Formats: sequence, structure tokens, C-alpha cells
Amino acid sequence: MDYLTEINEASSLDALDRLRVELLGKKSRIATSFAALRDLPPEERQVKAAELNTEKEALTQAIERKKAELQEGELQTAIAKEAIDVTLFEAREENGSLHPISRAMEEIIEYFLQMNFELRTGPLIEDEFHNFEALNLPKYHPAREMQDTFYMNDGMLLRTHTSPVQIHTMLGAKPPFKMIAPGAVFRRDYDLTHTPMFHQVEGLVVAEGKQISFANLKHIIIDFLTHFFGNFPVRFRPSYFPFTEPSAEVDVGCIFCGGAGCRMCKNTGWLEVLGCGMVDPNVFKAVGYENVSGYAFGMGVERLATLKYRVGDLRSLYEGDLDLLEQFQ
Ligand code: PHE
Repeated sequence: MDYLTEINEASSLDALDRLRVELLGKKSRIATSFAALRDLPPEERQVKAAELNTEKEALTQAIERKKAELQEGELQTAIAKEAIDVTLFEAREENGSLHPISRAMEEIIEYFLQMNFELRTGPLIEDEFHNFEALNLPKYHPAREMQDTFYMNDGMLLRTHTSPVQIHTMLGAKPPFKMIAPGAVFRRDYDLTHTPMFHQVEGLVVAEGKQISFANLKHIIIDFLTHFFGNFPVRFRPSYFPFTEPSAEVDVGCIFCGGAGCRMCKNTGWLEVLGCGMVDPNVFKAVGYENVSGYAFGMGVERLATLKYRVGDLRSLYEGDLDLLEQFQ
């Protein structure tokens, strides 16, 4: 096989380099022939030198050409090997986010924890004593009606509010204390602004003597609402709850119309957000407390969330509608 064919058939850059050393290196036939030139007579030397140079040139060029060819080949192989199919579907993990109800709930809890309230929970299934009786809701009180309350066969019921956690707490603790109780509650209700299950956060503060006043209640509620909604006007409206006296419902200036009047606030300019009051003496009596004072409040988390995030229909939050929920990322 002649050398040019051998070069052309080199299978790799390494093989080619070995060939180059063999053909043109210090110990190659050409190198030896060049060295032998000096022993030749001048005329012969010139002819032979020209011959050798031509041969050397031909081999060098052939090697360079083959080298370029092999390099290109290796590049193409590498490119082919590392190719990414950009049309391939990526098995992507979607990032989830907190449900708006959970987010509102966490924000409410966080505020009260910072205010040194402690977190309490109670059972979802209650007896009449904790859900009604101890809260000054006697037997024939209209709030106990079958239309509102889910009753079980054994006389137990699904709690209709978080206020029974007030009773659990007072029966198990000694004042002074400040507590909040978040959780699910149940009522037989279903329309634009009501679902059969919803969430409340209850608050209760009790201390000895007459330490706790309505002013304390007012302060914490206004501070909380300002923290939660921003700078909207807040008003306390006299109201009635069996377990507080005096009682109030609290409104914020309509965050939709700024108080001018709209469909959301039924043209009143105000939105009701929670109920509160000074703990009724009958409640303290039911748990055996004497010579204490306290305030309590209860707020609907769905109500606060739909107002804050401007959701028109409360029910839509429970339909698992990703288009809606993804807006809250
Ligand atoms: N439990 C009341 C409700 O569900 C709210 C409330 C709690 C009001 C505590 C006053 C004090 O509507």
C-alpha cells in the first residue's frame, strides 16, 4: 500500500498522528534520506533534494487534509450525540400555590400570633352544651333551628361556629389568656355568599376583674382590619349575639366602590366583616368563672378572602377551577 492511501485510510486522529511520525518524524525514511544528502555529489544532491521535498510536501498536504477531515467527522459525531430534541414534551412539575382561603387564614393567624394570642382548636363534631347551651343559646333559641344546624342521629351536631372552642378553652384554662381558634364550621346554607362548610377564626381574651374593656376590643379589631385590608374606614354597629353583651357587628368601608354605594355593598357603602362583643356573664357562669372580664370575636374567613381578593361568587373558590385559582399564585 502506498503512503497516500495509508493516510487516507487512517481511522482516527491518533492513528493519523502515529502515521505522521512514522513518515515525517526524526527517524523516518525521508528524514534519513535528507541526512544522507550531504554525502552525495553536488549535482545528484540537488536532484535528490528536490525529489525528497516534493515527496515530503505531498505527504504533509495529505496528512493535513486527512486531519481536517477527521476533525470535522469527530465534531459531527459530537454534535449528533449531544443533540437535544426541542420538540420533546418536557415532564415539568407545576408549582402549586396556597388556596386563597388558606392564604387568608394564615394571614389572620399570623397577625394574632404576633399579638401574643395562642392557637386553639376544637372538634368539628360538638354537643349541644358546647355549641349552644354554654354560649347562652337556650333550648328554644331560633339559632338552633333544624334549617341552620346539621344534626347527627345521636344528638351530636356539626359545629355551626368556632365559639364552642371558647367553652373548651375556658373549661381547661385559667385567666388571663388570649386565644384564637381557626377552623371549619357548618350550616345548612347555599347561595352566592354562603357554602355549607366555611371557616371562621374565633378570638377570646379573658382576664381577672374589670381589666378588659370594649376599648381593648375596638383597638385590636381596628388594628387587625387595617393590617388585613389596608387603610379603609371601620365602623362598629350595635348588634346582638347571645354570648356577648354588648355586641357589635363590624363593617369596613366598601373596598369595591370606596363607600359610594354599589352592588357588593347593597348601596350602603359598608361591608360587614365580623361579629364581636364583651363576653356575656351567662357564658362565664356556664364555665364557672367569677370576677373576670373578656371580649370575643368571630370572623368568616371566606368573607374576608372574597373581599380582599375581590371574588364575586364565594362558591367558585370551592369548584377547583384552576383558571381562577392560578390567579392567586
Ligand atoms: N359566633 C358568631 C357567628 O358565628 C360570631 C361571634 C363570635 C360573635 C364571637 C361575637 C363573638 O356569627
